[in-house]
Amino acid sequence: MKKLRVGVLASGRGSNLQALLHQSLAGKIDVEVAVVISDVEDALALSRARAAGVPAVYVPPGKFRTKLEPESEKEYVETLLTHGVEVVVLAGFMRILHDDFLNAFPDKVVNIHPSLLPAFPGLNVQKKAIDCGVKWSGATVHFVNAGVDAGPIILQAVVPVLDDDTPETLAARILVEEHRIYPEALQLIAEKRIRIDGRRVIGEPPPTTGESR
Ligand code: GRF
Repeated sequence: MKKLRVGVLASGRGSNLQALLHQSLAGKIDVEVAVVISDVEDALALSRARAAGVPAVYVPPGKFRTKLEPESEKEYVETLLTHGVEVVVLAGFMRILHDDFLNAFPDKVVNIHPSLLPAFPGLNVQKKAIDCGVKWSGATVHFVNAGVDAGPIILQAVVPVLDDDTPETLAARILVEEHRIYPEALQLIAEKRIRIDGRRVIGEPPPTTGESR
């Protein structure tokens, strides 16, 4: 099967990128990381990509704190297209992407978030979950739309919130699940096993024998 070419955008430590590289290089998923781009010049994610022999590019974000300047957003799109990227994977990318970017990859941008969306979008969500007293939290892989952490949900995994949890211990428990379900969600996309129907992501039946994927 032809591999799905993904481009990963990451701002930080890149543990989700690492999990993806691991599965991809071991041939466990039909996904190839074509390029990794970061808005942070010394992001660990870039070193992880280089160590795996994957092109790693720093693209300066411009003057804003939470978004990309229009010119640099264009450069992100161009870099992704130059590397033949079909699906954009956000893995701890700390900037909001706008219409020009999303329109370049319609329904082809995915994100992972460390809560059971739609509960607790945004930042510091493990602390918010603990403070709110929920007994369960988890991770969500979703398509990205114009809202923040608001697009159609592909996969979720649930973990308990324990009485003695700190944001750090809860984050670590959730991260284990993130590393499991992100590659799994990308494999579903690679196999064309899902489609978007409004807010929902619906499973498609597996192709019958002999039918090309
Ligand atoms: C993860 O918790 C992810 O859910 C969130 O940012 C964090 C990134 O971690 N979007 P890493 O850089 O993949 O280690």
